[in-house]
Amino acid sequence: MHIHILTLFPNMFTAPFSESIVKRAIDRGLVEIAIHNIRDYTSDRHHVVDDSPYGGGPGMVLKPEPLFEAVTAIKGAGWEFGHSEKGEFELPVILLTPQGRLFDQRAAEGLSKYEEVILICGHYEGVDERVREHLVTDEISIGDYVLSGGELAAMVVVDSLVRQLPGALGSEEAVGEDSHSSGLLEYPQYTRPQSFRGWEVPEILLSGNHAEIARWRREQSLRRTIRRRPDLLERTALNDEERGLLAQMEREEY
Ligand code: ADE
Repeated sequence: MHIHILTLFPNMFTAPFSESIVKRAIDRGLVEIAIHNIRDYTSDRHHVVDDSPYGGGPGMVLKPEPLFEAVTAIKGAGWEFGHSEKGEFELPVILLTPQGRLFDQRAAEGLSKYEEVILICGHYEGVDERVREHLVTDEISIGDYVLSGGELAAMVVVDSLVRQLPGALGSEEAVGEDSHSSGLLEYPQYTRPQSFRGWEVPEILLSGNHAEIARWRREQSLRRTIRRRPDLLERTALNDEERGLLAQMEREEY
């Protein structure tokens, strides 16, 4: 997978991409992450990337030309974005902005299927609307709060994409067990010591009975989801056993 990031602050990406799973995925050749400085795509002497808004008002707006230039340079001249035969974009060009659609596990899984993705980090008061209308294919927000720029959001998106790539996780790090990948939150985990400050690991986990352990975990997952994120249950297909457990928990008022 090739990920291109367009940013005014390339140095922000150094540390997060030099550690842990993202670093390992880069080293294994599973992903290539190219950081492009938007300022390098200006053509004026002062490398101006922003200007004041038409109509007045505070702050600065990112100019369209450097962003169009950068995307064209990445994809090669003559390229026009459009839909593939499957009706999907061949190359998603995504603007990170608090106005975008909310990013979630399903969006991460969807994006990780593409061979190439371009992420544009917005900054200042905003981005010229023509970028939204004619350059980007999608706008993503990582949550209902305002960051100083799209960089941190791009890091979040990249991290969640990279861990979906086959081979990115070691066998000990199962993506399928993650919170949200099944639509439910993850069950509680314990490790040694068995007794810590008088707090014991649940007996069932020491029993060696794998079927019972799996059942306990599904129940805990469900219980945790009902208590913390009942909204998730509305979007999750439950099997018969889970529906039974849910009905029982509702009778017990959790
Ligand atoms: N840029 C500023 N705030 C953001 C957010 N919440 N998500 C994505 N990009 C952003």
